[in-house]
Amino acid sequence: MDINITNLIKQAYGAKNYSYAPYSNFHVGAALLCADGTVYTGCNIENAAYTPTNCAERTAVFKAVSDGRRDFCALAVVGDMQKYLAPCGVCRQVLSEFCSADSFLIILAKSEQDYRVLHLKDLFPFAFSPKDLEPDA
Ligand code: THU
Repeated sequence: MDINITNLIKQAYGAKNYSYAPYSNFHVGAALLCADGTVYTGCNIENAAYTPTNCAERTAVFKAVSDGRRDFCALAVVGDMQKYLAPCGVCRQVLSEFCSADSFLIILAKSEQDYRVLHLKDLFPFAFSPKDLEPDA
């Protein structure tokens, strides 16, 4: 499938506007592209107890999965800062549950024009995957 990276980044910036981050003041937005072209967005959602905080990337994935989607192509992530923001380890693990390590693309964007595209396998090598739960052959 052809990926409209600019549109995905734009949607991630739109989601960042809804970020609830009164504790860190670090606002993040994400946009997840499904195989059928649907885009699910997410923002980070913090909590006074801190640990229940949910990252933007996981918000997008959980929204999509709870809507019956499991087939994903790409994810764009944006923050406020002028640097590339990569998903945290927990989000990488969640992505690796559903996304192909070889083909899934992660777009780290500083702006609609300035971004890096990485494969999940490069961002999260040697992942613990559902296959690891299977008995040895
Ligand atoms: N955060 C994300 O939403 N995504 C990331 O990739 C890194 C961190 C959020 C969690 C928390 O609300 C704030 O950014 C500071 O860590």
